Amino acid sequence: FATPATNSNFSVHPEIATRTPPYGKLTKNLTEVRRVLGTQGLTLAEKILYSHLDNVEDALGGRNGKIRGEAYLKLKVDRVAMQDASAQMALLQFMTCGLGGTAVPASIHCDHMIVGEKGADVDLPKSIESNKEVFNFLESAAKKFGIQFWAPGSGIIHQIVLENYAAPGLMMLGTDSHTPNGGGLGAIAIGVGGADAVDALVDAPWELRAPKILGVRLEGELSGWATPKDVILNLAGQLTVRGGTGYIIEYYGPGVQTLSCTGMATICNMGAEVGATTSLFPFTPKMTSYLNSTRRAPIAEAAEEANKSHNFLRADTNAAYDQVITINLSELEPHINGPFTPDLSTPLSKFKDVVKENEWPEQLSAGLIGSCTNSSYQDMLRAEDLVKQAAAAGLKPRVDFFVTPGSEQIRATLERDETLDVFEKAGGTVLANACGPCIGQWKRSDISKGDTNAILTSYNRNFRARNDGNSQTMNFLASPEIVTAMIYSGDMSFNPITDTLPTPSGQPFQFSAPSGSELPSQGFELGNLALFPSDSTPSPSTPVVVSPTSSRLALLEPFEPFGSTDLKGLKVLLKVKGKCTTDHISAAGSWLKYKGHLENISNNTLIGAMNAETGEVNKAYDANGDAFSVPDLARRWKAQGLSWLVVAENNYGEGSAREHAALQPRYLGGKIILAKSFARIHETNLKKQGVVPLTFASEADYNLIGSCDSVDTVGLYDMLVNRGDGEVFLDVTKKEDGSRHRIPVKHTFSKDQAGFVLAGSALNLLSKKAAT
Ligand code: F3S
Repeated sequence: FATPATNSNFSVHPEIATRTPPYGKLTKNLTEVRRVLGTQGLTLAEKILYSHLDNVEDALGGRNGKIRGEAYLKLKVDRVAMQDASAQMALLQFMTCGLGGTAVPASIHCDHMIVGEKGADVDLPKSIESNKEVFNFLESAAKKFGIQFWAPGSGIIHQIVLENYAAPGLMMLGTDSHTPNGGGLGAIAIGVGGADAVDALVDAPWELRAPKILGVRLEGELSGWATPKDVILNLAGQLTVRGGTGYIIEYYGPGVQTLSCTGMATICNMGAEVGATTSLFPFTPKMTSYLNSTRRAPIAEAAEEANKSHNFLRADTNAAYDQVITINLSELEPHINGPFTPDLSTPLSKFKDVVKENEWPEQLSAGLIGSCTNSSYQDMLRAEDLVKQAAAAGLKPRVDFFVTPGSEQIRATLERDETLDVFEKAGGTVLANACGPCIGQWKRSDISKGDTNAILTSYNRNFRARNDGNSQTMNFLASPEIVTAMIYSGDMSFNPITDTLPTPSGQPFQFSAPSGSELPSQGFELGNLALFPSDSTPSPSTPVVVSPTSSRLALLEPFEPFGSTDLKGLKVLLKVKGKCTTDHISAAGSWLKYKGHLENISNNTLIGAMNAETGEVNKAYDANGDAFSVPDLARRWKAQGLSWLVVAENNYGEGSAREHAALQPRYLGGKIILAKSFARIHETNLKKQGVVPLTFASEADYNLIGSCDSVDTVGLYDMLVNRGDGEVFLDVTKKEDGSRHRIPVKHTFSKDQAGFVLAGSALNLLSKKAAT
């Protein structure tokens, strides 16, 4: 795809230099990595990760090749991005460090707090007004510390990062789990909690256990209705929500060259749904086209050079993967995943039967396209093509249709090219360039809470209540094309590839496979320039106001240190059954407004979790049988000076980078989470906030422990003091009869992480180090 010849807005951004990965330094480090590791072939992920090591020899030397899954890497990242909901806590933590500016370039994106209801023109000003205090806080802190501030309406973090900051070979952290979207442009982009982001912002190396590498070999070429989204919907079905844990997913093979850059971003974005640390693609000509089209031609040239001189941006031919999955794009059919979990994957041709078998609703209640996952120019043009086909046949959508552009740049371009007009003429509602319904900020009036209904979205995540706060809304994920076609039937069993629709003329109508160009031939419009960030020089005199009476923001107090003995007399607050995602632990939606106020947001702690002993949600019982909501019982115990633990099943903390899911239990007196297994980001977040994540050595021991049982740790203190070395046990006293038994448990503490818990939190340790 050629660089646009004429674009009134085409200019090289003045900050292009700060947006170009430091290829000179990175390729020099790569040479050092090769020296230390010898002749071993490297995957692309290894090249980028290891070239960001603070000290190559320390991390990789003398390990006899035993690195993946074992070594702890201390990494110096190039950039940080934060969304408005998580940025509040990240900045409150950063402010306790007393620094005048950030050590690496950073950006804040106001996207999560904007409601989707009537359309951008009405929703955006309303959301700005209702979140004024928080946006002012973020903007003033950004100005003071030299962070780029992307105002409400500018777009969704991952889309803006792709359009402006992601680049081949870059390593960045984002305080949002879908940060891996940047892998579509060949970056290692990892979702983390705010405390991890603070590491990078203060120039401390960020620690990560070296991931294993899962190679996904793509063969063939997509055609017809199959889209990049279907690659990841299919892969999620194969891997399940836990299958990517501890891995980076690296795509390779001839099929890679056929995918658009934004399509690759969609695939990487949803790697978060299988628990992968991140996902990425090698540098391809499609990336060059996208960089050129988004006014970053110099970055494409520099990447080309680094690739030519050091083979930096693709895997070595003799690279070995820990696991390989092959997907033939030519044979891939569209998929629909859900409800309630992104790995419940059904090929479109079987969906009709599966709907019947499971007695899912036969009617759709709404279709939503766009979001950070699927709002590229290509996505929208292909959806537009279907809308035009239907309109020509005299058809109108049978259910509500919402469109969320991912950024102002996309919105303005689609407006110029009249795509939005086509959607609106069909009755679609164009929402603000923000998260809206993707993060529970969807104000619906068509259904009431508790109504069972089915929606189809082109988003990435579909946990219960994720979109509209209604746990009975069955949310299914598909490509924008499938969502768009299906709204014209409104029937869940409609297959747009094979089925026809009746038309006013009496002629049956069948969709043709959608088409649409990857990039706009006239280039991208920038849109409203007032939404773009200005200068990023710190302005130390800028006041950052946090009112002591605010219900939205509160300065942080440090957590108390661990103490100098093992923990005694912890009580089990709740034994959780089944899925317990960060949405269950710290709900989003209406709670987003308290993200900067730990005391207030703690009132949602674990309110979505199911009590394994009673089957109730948000119900916990004190030892005398009195019933409470989970946060109320936690507060009651805190007031009594009792510390507690939670017992849970697999993949605890699945989902997002939301560090509130760790901060809140910590704040309310939680000391341990004992689970069958953890999601990676959440396990790290717990350690950073001083909560101890432990797993059962034998999963069957989950049955040996119940609510209000009393727990003493054995060996935990010594293990922490010995920087992660040593065995840990839990002595459990049963509440029923006072009988005692010992449960062996496992942990994954690194040296540094043990230090966080001993100090009370990572931030306590950082502040202590800064003071000495
Ligand atoms: Fe926003 Fe995350 Fe959705 S960034 S659009 S809430 S996946």
